[in-house]
Amino acid sequence: MMVTRRALLAASGAALAAPALAQGEAAKVGLILPMSGPFASTGRQIEAAVRTFLRMSGESHGGKKLEIVLRDDTGVAPDVTRRLAQELVVRERVRFLAGFGLTPLAFAAAPVATEAKVPMVVMAAATSVIVQRSPFILRTSFTLPQATMPIAEWAAKNGVKSAATLVTDYAPGLDAERAFKERFTAQGGQVPLELRTPLRNPDYAPFLQRVRDARPEALFIFVPSGEGAALMKQFAERGLREAGIRLIGTGDVVDDDILNDMGDAALGVVTSHHYSAAHDSAENRAFREAYGQVASNARPNFMAVGGFDGMRLIAEGLKKAEGNLDGERLLAAMKGQSWMSPRGQITIDANTRDIVQDIHIRRVERRDGQLWNVEFDRVPQVRDPGT
Ligand code: DHB
Repeated sequence: MMVTRRALLAASGAALAAPALAQGEAAKVGLILPMSGPFASTGRQIEAAVRTFLRMSGESHGGKKLEIVLRDDTGVAPDVTRRLAQELVVRERVRFLAGFGLTPLAFAAAPVATEAKVPMVVMAAATSVIVQRSPFILRTSFTLPQATMPIAEWAAKNGVKSAATLVTDYAPGLDAERAFKERFTAQGGQVPLELRTPLRNPDYAPFLQRVRDARPEALFIFVPSGEGAALMKQFAERGLREAGIRLIGTGDVVDDDILNDMGDAALGVVTSHHYSAAHDSAENRAFREAYGQVASNARPNFMAVGGFDGMRLIAEGLKKAEGNLDGERLLAAMKGQSWMSPRGQITIDANTRDIVQDIHIRRVERRDGQLWNVEFDRVPQVRDPGT
């Protein structure tokens, strides 16, 4: 029976029929994450945050028990992500798809959500256009233009006149590059050099050497979560700081997960982002403490908060739909939700299904022997500028 359904699906691309409601059925969440491979830190962070949510808020919502079905897509193979999404919908009958560590993986799963009419919560990937790839997508992470514009403005207003850009060469990097250049040059800044590094096995040294030779006043960087350690090491070894080039970027490069290991090289780096583990609020203190219990005292990063809020969106949707598991009903219940997250006030815009949130400007400082992204300025309720 299963084989037949799947074969049919593969052969004809036929719509995935929603199975009939069953009494006492759990609400399954198909969680697809890179649990292995180069982006495994993203998977580890989000999975721990999902468990943190269930621990803090319980497993039953709207009379249904939330059940997590975790799959590892290895982070680098969109065809694998797509196959896993199909299997989760057809075989496991999940009522939500969630996770999606990188943009190409969210793109790959989007048509499955559309065909199956299953809400798909993007907890990590951050290219603007993702929410337009399926009317069933909702996002609890961030977008690169949303996070980039505030640092472009901050740099221009704080006397930086020229800035090179260095981004990872795929969709979110290109979003960041474009947003930075647009906003920085609109404020009178110049961008003398734009560099793109490969997504797979990047060697940052030759790129940073070119930046050093060009001698801009600042270097704007976007690299995906986890890559910041290698980049920061090369930045220090190539002597860019001594050459008077200051490092700025979105918060991805000074990811809270790996910041402590970067040492003095990271001190003073100014970035803009939607979450800092140092965010000063009761909600964040409670989140950090519970997360530490689930994840052997690890520190949550911005990926974790996307996973935590994604689960909240799912749980509240279930509650508002009164336990009805119909995908369209759940989607409608999830749109437009607004709440106080560990990062601050957030809204899932009812029309765009994208997140609206505060973006903070932060500086890396040492406090009590540890490195933190200390927030010192805030741009309230930023929307993705593309929507
Ligand atoms: C994406 C991945 C990341 O690890 C990150 O920090 C930002 C964006 C992405 O692929 O969309």
